[in-house]
Amino acid sequence: MNQPANTFPFIGRRVNRIGYGAMQLAGPGVFGPPKDRQAALDVLRAAVEAGVDHIDTSDFYGPHVTNQLIREALHPYRDGLTIVTKVGAVRGDDGAWLAAQEPAELEKGVHDNLKNLGLDVLDVVNLRVMGDVHTPKEGSIARQVEALAGLQQKGLLRHVGLSNVTAAQVAEARHITDIVCVQNLYNIAHREDDALVHELADEGIAYVPFFPLGGFTPIQSSSLSAIAASLGATPMQVALAWLLHRSPNILLIPGTSSLAHLRENMQAGELALSDDVLAALDAI
Ligand SMILES: NC(=O)c1ccc[n+]([C@@H]2O[C@H](COP(=O)([O-])OP(=O)(O)OC[C@H]3O[C@@H](n4cnc5c(N)ncnc54)[C@H](OP(=O)(O)O)[C@@H]3O)[C@@H](O)[C@H]2O)c1
Repeated sequence: MNQPANTFPFIGRRVNRIGYGAMQLAGPGVFGPPKDRQAALDVLRAAVEAGVDHIDTSDFYGPHVTNQLIREALHPYRDGLTIVTKVGAVRGDDGAWLAAQEPAELEKGVHDNLKNLGLDVLDVVNLRVMGDVHTPKEGSIARQVEALAGLQQKGLLRHVGLSNVTAAQVAEARHITDIVCVQNLYNIAHREDDALVHELADEGIAYVPFFPLGGFTPIQSSSLSAIAASLGATPMQVALAWLLHRSPNILLIPGTSSLAHLRENMQAGELALSDDVLAALDAI
């Protein structure tokens, strides 16, 4: 049996590899307030109580909604809680996701995050490159990364990460400033980043898959369900455990608005997968 490490060194701390993604706490379409505000606050508090010390968010979720919920539930933040946010988009009045990649727009995004999270400095800010919705597209991102590096020098953020990027864009950004994490679409059914995950592992950079459970269309696979049943686990737990086994630099940020799902997801860290099971999962 293979039992992956529970923690990974990230921005000078050891973070638990199972974190929490706050996007699902906003209203339908990640727009507007949640249906049940108290339930959203309860999930955030329960996550931290259960050992989550890495929360992923953005001020464009809601917009402002998830950051304000995080602040209400958890501020003043406990020592060692790492909040990672992202800039690079804003929301239209109709909920549309609009690119906001100009230096002044990135700076405004940083200030909006500071205000709504109630912080003087942000731990990590990911530049969310717009690309093709959830797929990266080649092209220079130097101007945007330089803008974030400037805000880093001003002391508004400690570390820079990237989201929705190619390997070439990661390399370009690393010439400008240290990159501590990359957040791209990756899960057991979407493995286009296999090579990038391992390249980043060699460099000690965290890879943080978004949609680890399939996002808006949760992963469904008869093989995954059969393997999960044979292990006495749920398919979602096995999908998360597979990611934990995949590479030690993978940090998980599954999103949920449900306390039961939160508990289920946290238990994925206890699942040890044999080589045979891993081979069967790799074949999905
Ligand atoms: N950088 C980017 O472009 C980007 C894009 C998307 C997301 N993200 C980040 O990545 C995080 C994770 O992505 P995500 O939340 O969209 O997708 P996800 O984690 O792949 O899946 C979340 C969905 O799965 C359901 N779910 C969660 N746990 C479950 C369980 N144990 N059993 C059954 N269903 C379960 C949730 O519904 P319930 O609420 O009912 O549990 C929700 O509908 C986000 O929260 C966000 O922080 C980043």
